Amino acid sequence: MRKLSELANLDGKRVVIRCDLNVPLDGSRITDDGRIVASVPTIKYLVDQGAKVVVISHLGRPEGAPEAKYSLEPAATRLGELLDQPVFFASDTVGSEARGAVKALDRGGVVVLENLRFNPGETAKSEDERREFASKLAEFGDIMVSDGFGVVHRKQASVYELAQLLPSYAGFLIEKELEVLERLTAKPERPYAVVLGGSKVSDKLGVIDHLLPTVDKLLVGGGMVFTFLAALGHKVGSSLLEANQIPVVQGYVARAKELGVDIVLPTDIVVASKFGADAEVAITAADAIEGSPFGAAGLGLDIGPESGANFAREIAEAKTVFWNGPMGVFEIDKFAGGTRAVAKALTEMNGFSVVGGGDSAAAVRALGFEDSQFGHISTGGGASLEYLEGKKLPGLEVLND
Ligand code: 3PG
Repeated sequence: MRKLSELANLDGKRVVIRCDLNVPLDGSRITDDGRIVASVPTIKYLVDQGAKVVVISHLGRPEGAPEAKYSLEPAATRLGELLDQPVFFASDTVGSEARGAVKALDRGGVVVLENLRFNPGETAKSEDERREFASKLAEFGDIMVSDGFGVVHRKQASVYELAQLLPSYAGFLIEKELEVLERLTAKPERPYAVVLGGSKVSDKLGVIDHLLPTVDKLLVGGGMVFTFLAALGHKVGSSLLEANQIPVVQGYVARAKELGVDIVLPTDIVVASKFGADAEVAITAADAIEGSPFGAAGLGLDIGPESGANFAREIAEAKTVFWNGPMGVFEIDKFAGGTRAVAKALTEMNGFSVVGGGDSAAAVRALGFEDSQFGHISTGGGASLEYLEGKKLPGLEVLND
């Protein structure tokens, strides 16, 4: 892999750096700046080398057009604070403001361009459209540094095509993330448990198939639990359900049995009358969600306390644990118990713990844990999962000679 660490003489060079500044926001307030903090060492190095630095990133999933709530401006402001230097924010991506800002850059200067996904070319299915957008971005640099580890599993214009159009190198964050993930894939100390949760259900269901042969235990919480419970024939009220995935999940359950892998599901669920902090809640058995006072309207929003304790016991027995995705809607305190129990167990385990993904990292910090209490906190959720599955990630492949 071509690496920034092996590159000499960046003085006065224009460097386009693809970061993952996709941070959670509450209005324009950043609720967890972990991904920005993690991007700083490479950007700072470029600044110190006298490069002219053009930072590009996505935020959220806008659909190819500007949407104020997905602006990168708050992230640019935070980056300036962390770098302790002025950072110019261009309110377009490849338009006149961006072009002017890049042109005006001095040595050691930094500009952040607006959200790449405001342009349909970034995520276009058509390679030609992606390439066309990437070639506009390529005009801003002599070199491209790829450091958005969280997005290397996406074949998108700024991740893949841009890296083909400019001489491209992996930044320090990508190098660091890969060191940890190699440790997990090469020879994980066993028992090896993976804990899966979160809300990107369809993204994650697919990874299970590939993970089953490599893990000893798979603990399932978060939004995907209800598809598992439905696959076992239980009613799940109004909880998040991917009905078309039920046969797929039934296949996973059968395969896990064959392979001798334990799929550990919650035994109880925190059911809510509605989504929100003012909801009424009840705890039901996982196979009797509709038996709550809310009947078929009940929404499962967290794993229950018995399940939290059980998951913690399983984690304590493992020597390697990879955790991706909160167990419930941790942003609301009454649905944070499962996530808190899992996070606490990871901090107490006697082995190597890795927390992967923006949401899980945000969750542990929001619940008051410190980064240093875990073996590693990865900035990539989907990316690290796909890496662990053994898939080839386009954003990494493209950096190989
Ligand atoms: C993430 O949050 O996992 C990365 O920023 C990638 O975002 P995406 O899933 O919207 O591509």
